[in-house]
Amino acid sequence: MPLNRRTLIAASLSITFVLAPLTSVFAASPAPAKGEHGMVVTAQHLASEVGIEVLKKGGNAVDAAVAVGYALAVVYPNAGNIGGGGFMTIRFKDGKSTFLDFRERAPLAATKTMYLDKDGNPVKGASLDGYLAVGVPGSVAGFEMAREKYGKLSRQDLMAPAIGYAKDGFILNQGDAASFAGSADRLAKDPAAAAIFLKPDGKPYGVGERLVQPDLAASLAAISEKGTDAFYKGAIADAIVKASGAKGGILAKPDFEQYAVRELKPVTCTYRGYEITSSPPPSSGGIIICEILNVLEGYPLSYLGAGSAETVHVMVEAMRYAYVDRNSALGDPDFVDNPVSKLLDKAYAKDIRDKIDPFRAGVSQDLMPKGFGESKETTHYSIIDDAGNAVAVTYTLNGSFGAGVVADGTGILLNNEMDDFTQKPGVPNLYGLVQGEANAIQPKKTPLSSMSPTVVAKDGKPFMVIGSPGGSRIITITLEAIINVIDHGMNIQEAIDAPRIHHQWLPDKVYVEPFGLSPDTEKLLAGMGYHLDLADQTWGQAAGILVGGKSLAEIEKGGGARYNGAIDSRAASGEALGY
Ligand code: DON
Repeated sequence: MPLNRRTLIAASLSITFVLAPLTSVFAASPAPAKGEHGMVVTAQHLASEVGIEVLKKGGNAVDAAVAVGYALAVVYPNAGNIGGGGFMTIRFKDGKSTFLDFRERAPLAATKTMYLDKDGNPVKGASLDGYLAVGVPGSVAGFEMAREKYGKLSRQDLMAPAIGYAKDGFILNQGDAASFAGSADRLAKDPAAAAIFLKPDGKPYGVGERLVQPDLAASLAAISEKGTDAFYKGAIADAIVKASGAKGGILAKPDFEQYAVRELKPVTCTYRGYEITSSPPPSSGGIIICEILNVLEGYPLSYLGAGSAETVHVMVEAMRYAYVDRNSALGDPDFVDNPVSKLLDKAYAKDIRDKIDPFRAGVSQDLMPKGFGESKETTHYSIIDDAGNAVAVTYTLNGSFGAGVVADGTGILLNNEMDDFTQKPGVPNLYGLVQGEANAIQPKKTPLSSMSPTVVAKDGKPFMVIGSPGGSRIITITLEAIINVIDHGMNIQEAIDAPRIHHQWLPDKVYVEPFGLSPDTEKLLAGMGYHLDLADQTWGQAAGILVGGKSLAEIEKGGGARYNGAIDSRAASGEALGY
């Protein structure tokens, strides 16, 4: 168990009535879900059921991940998709790991300045709305490669539940309905999207109503029957290219024909004896999580305490340095030489620690690199099977409902992932990220991501599966869940639910979720020179699994459930299901 201030005080008092409540000291969250054979945690309860059924039928965690990916495209259309892209981190039962990059690519006709007007200024909305914002989708190719290489079940088996929910429809609950209501105005602008997601009177579907998607059912059935060619070489690609050409986009048939998934080596690092396996470039996620963890390893976070001014200070400074590196140095590995080993080096982390003033906030402007000229929605799910194969998937349309467009007859919402590129060095994107040349637009290039599907292992065994949506904040959300379990002793649900802080170098502000810090902690931080943003907002929808117990304390005591799953209490429709 982490030796933190509470446990030290408790130990020094060693009085039973003081000790007793300590076991539930963070118990402001529901109990995690339990399972002995498998666990599926997703942001939509029907998709979690689909995943569990695949595991019960003898599929492995990769099979379940593929079935869940297709199911979410139907029952969670604001982020689940076949018109977007994402990442899959797999840690196999034998300890080996791999990473599938099925993120979008820039079309062949893309140019560096395609979102700038004649004076060189970004055209508002051009990288976010409509066909010009769409990157070449990768989800179908990604799921199919995962299934073929690492799954056991047939494509037809894995796609059947999604096809069923598209054809017969599903009943919306409060969380589902809220996502439609929030994007109704945007969806109304595209007749094909409006015809699917809005009622004939133009209003969004409400709680208890059934959403049926016959065109999507037909597209999924074609993929189920013919495989990836149905999407990349057949009628679906034709329909998307045609709609794109008619409505200001630049997608062409060769973009689809040339799309290829990359299988990459995941980023790995250690943190206090735990082995972290996460996303490599074209994601910044794994590298930046590791860079921040390497810096934090030099501080006694457990002793300093969750939410204390001292802990927040060192976390924010580590984030500040790491996000400068993220925003200036990283990009698609086929186009940019990423300084991976430097950023993962523990000696580099020590150099950063040496620069952190123990008593004062740093200043982001002082870290401006030389020559330096997120938010809704993504979704993350975590799965583990009976054999111990762990799969973490984060995939996305980028913004909620992506570019808000559907090519006639396909039922497929298309992404607006092109906004993740640097449109112009120094100009913030949807997530306020101020980025540089390494992430400039080029044909066939993949925009830099923050998605961080992560598996943590201990002593060669899976320990934690974790990830989240949240744009640029994905990195700090995932990081904080890990720290909350390892350093602060929270159980997996508490670790995910705990209020978050975030800093991303620019703007030079510390974002704090409601009730994240006490008023006196806020005053201490302000006194150190921090600018706190206490706007009433929450972010992220983490989905996590802890193996061997719900918390470190329970794991050490023994007797906890084998698999403990938690969906973020911020995720209105999600569910953790074990069996
Ligand atoms: O790849 C990325 O980093 C972003 N496109 C993720 C977007 C996201 O998380 C939106 N959800 N809140």
